[in-house]
Amino acid sequence: MIRVRIRVAPAEYEVRVAPGLLARAGSLVRSVHRGAVAAVVTDRTVDRLYGAKVVRSLEAAGFEVSRSVLPAGERAKSLHRVETLWTRWARMGLGRDAIVVALGGGVVSDVAGFAAASYARGISWVAFPTTVIGQADAAIGGKVGVNLASGKNLIGAFHHPLAVFADIDTLRTLTPRAYRAGLAEIAKIGMIARPHLLPRLEGLARAGTRVPRPSLVAPLIRAAASAKAATVEADERDQGARLALNFGHTVGHALEAASGYRSHLHGEAVSIGMAAALRLSVLEVGLDPVDAMEAETLLARLGLPTRFRREPGEAFWKALARDKKRGRSGVRMVLCPAIGESKLFTLPALTTLRRVVRSLVRHTGGNP
Ligand SMILES: NC(=O)c1ccc[n+]([C@@H]2O[C@H](COP(=O)([O-])OP(=O)(O)OC[C@H]3O[C@@H](n4cnc5c(N)ncnc54)[C@H](O)[C@@H]3O)[C@@H](O)[C@H]2O)c1
Ligand SMILES: [Zn+2]
Repeated sequence: MIRVRIRVAPAEYEVRVAPGLLARAGSLVRSVHRGAVAAVVTDRTVDRLYGAKVVRSLEAAGFEVSRSVLPAGERAKSLHRVETLWTRWARMGLGRDAIVVALGGGVVSDVAGFAAASYARGISWVAFPTTVIGQADAAIGGKVGVNLASGKNLIGAFHHPLAVFADIDTLRTLTPRAYRAGLAEIAKIGMIARPHLLPRLEGLARAGTRVPRPSLVAPLIRAAASAKAATVEADERDQGARLALNFGHTVGHALEAASGYRSHLHGEAVSIGMAAALRLSVLEVGLDPVDAMEAETLLARLGLPTRFRREPGEAFWKALARDKKRGRSGVRMVLCPAIGESKLFTLPALTTLRRVVRSLVRHTGGNP
């Protein structure tokens, strides 16, 4: 018998959530990587705000720096953009000693991480997440990838960063809409695994959700990031515990794909998806209707949408059936039998989900 013993690096990595990290980007990257070249990947909005600062710091730490700028938003999470990065890096003669520096939200870390995973059979990357979603969730755990027109995240890889440096000062410049969308992923972690986060989100809602106050949000981000890290440790390859993180995502992803990634921010689509999953949980796995209603109300109080703008059409149902989490016998969804718990559930048919979705169409909202 031939054995292949492998030790996939890195065996562990640091997630730091703190103020002032971008100004020290050079020394932070240097602390995890010895090579000479840093390939920064960012998007237009983040570049305008923070690109120069990060490049300056990397150069001061002795890196030779290139900068690639993606358009802002979900539509940049495409194979086309990944190819643009590969081509640019190949033209520059980027070698395997280079490090990719992802500076931006979940879209940037997914695209940059995937480009790093696949270029020259894999080069290192490090994440500087600048959104609530990026810092609490997306940059951690090594799932990287892009969308296809036919489905979210259909192309991807597992490729962990060498470190995640979340500078909470960057949250100050988020638009209120992007900020609130980020809170949806924290609410998700609360509903399926860390119920103590929910009253704290309530507190945030009371304090107002227009302008993020890093000092108020940072403890929540830290708690969500540590829950994410624990889940990834328990199930690195997404075969058990980690699947629970898809709560709200089956419907959310279908909504995103059906609109060509235009109509909702990811967190907004997930919020509507969670409202649907909560109502379905009442019908299928015994979630207390009062708890479901309270959770739905929390989302609304955070300024998140919980209703479909109109009855979803065929594109939505097709995308839902194509979701990669589809089991052989039907659509698999994460449900919530009690707040703080999750359960993988295979829908025997779409009838109940159709009823739930109809109950959530704006203006007709009522009981499923
Ligand atoms: N890989 C994973 O495990 C994982 C987990 C959760 C979400 N995701 C993915 O993350 C994506 C959503 O992440 P997102 O909401 O961060 O999206 P995003 O990267 O598109 O950022 C949202 C918007 O905020 C802007 N922005 C980013 N940082 C800013 C800042 N500091 N100040 C001002 N504007 C800023 C961006 O330009 C963009 O327009 C989705 O594609 C989702 O599938 C991945
Ligand atoms: Zn998500």
